[in-house]
Amino acid sequence: MTVPVLENAVETLLSKDIHLLQALNAADLGCAAGPATFTVISTIKRMMEKKCRELNSNLQKVASMTVPVLENAVETLFFKDIHLLQALNVADLGCAAGPATFTVISTIKRMMENKCRELNCQTLELQVYLNDLPTNDFNTLFKGLSSKVVGNKCEEVSCYVMGVAGSFHGRLFPRNSLHLVHSCFSGHWLTQAPKGLTSREGLALNKGKIYISKTSPPVVREAYLSQFYEYFTMFLNARSQEVVPNGCMVLILRGRLSSNPLDMESCFTWELLAITIAELVSQMQENDKWVRGEKFAKVARAFTEPIISNQFEHEIMDKLYDKFTHIVVSDLEAKIPKTTSIILVLSKIIG
Ligand SMILES: C[S@@+](CC[C@H](N)C(=O)[O-])C[C@H]1O[C@@H](n2cnc3c(N)ncnc32)[C@H](O)[C@@H]1O
Repeated sequence: MTVPVLENAVETLLSKDIHLLQALNAADLGCAAGPATFTVISTIKRMMEKKCRELNSNLQKVASMTVPVLENAVETLFFKDIHLLQALNVADLGCAAGPATFTVISTIKRMMENKCRELNCQTLELQVYLNDLPTNDFNTLFKGLSSKVVGNKCEEVSCYVMGVAGSFHGRLFPRNSLHLVHSCFSGHWLTQAPKGLTSREGLALNKGKIYISKTSPPVVREAYLSQFYEYFTMFLNARSQEVVPNGCMVLILRGRLSSNPLDMESCFTWELLAITIAELVSQMQENDKWVRGEKFAKVARAFTEPIISNQFEHEIMDKLYDKFTHIVVSDLEAKIPKTTSIILVLSKIIG
């Protein structure tokens, strides 16, 4: 019965002032030995994860607000030089597997159809290059490209879509080939973690974290900033060669209201992800320890059981070796000593 009350309290806290919540500090007084306190912890964690998802869905809302900006960009392109636009070459960089990129295609196509009617021209052609890293799920992306998005080739605007696998930090297209570049929530991604996240002695400077967090020393923040500067410069350099004169780019990037990179706005998701990864790694290490312990115990049973079973009743053997496995696993920290085998090759000497 108390869970909804607790949920409500956390909800109120989270909605009151997000800046309060660099970290949510909770205390369970008189927690005893569980399990009630475990429910308290998991309820609070669940509510924080829910908040995190809400923040992400807000990002999608932001994306829909960018449609008018894209419409305006297409309008401006047509206004500038219609002769360029017998075919409009567009690239969506960091398109993922949809669905946001479908909205981008439909928006541009709709704008071109309007233009076609307005200018009384017979047909226009739209060429869309969908780019992401080679590891992207291009199969799902192209399966999602229904005729509703692309239309068919006998309409006023025929649309041709191609996949371009590669990093947008380098050149992807020929010189002067793109009229419009669109990239939503992708340009701020770094291809690699920054150098300089370890000390001279090789120690991790951002221990237990996967991004700038409230515990990160200034050197970590600087390392991320300079890596972003380097990659974003590469991005802009490559596009400056690929975009035609008077071409246009619409970039939507993650930002934050505060100038402080440790602000909740930018750290929240990564803090929770870092905790999740750490928990998963320790779970995997625990499993691995168990598998190694069991293997050792099985081998040990094979050569010790025949001797031991002479001294004890046969029935207790399973119990004994079960217990033995547990002890081996808990003792694994102390490292299993290597076994030594002696191989003898003997010859019989005649005489
Ligand atoms: C948050 S998703 C954005 C997806 C989509 N544009 C949207 O608005 O929903 C970021 C995408 O950028 C892609 N990405 C990250 N670094 C990239 C790079 N160097 N080159 C191309 N794509 C990249 C990722 O693979 C991912 O699909």
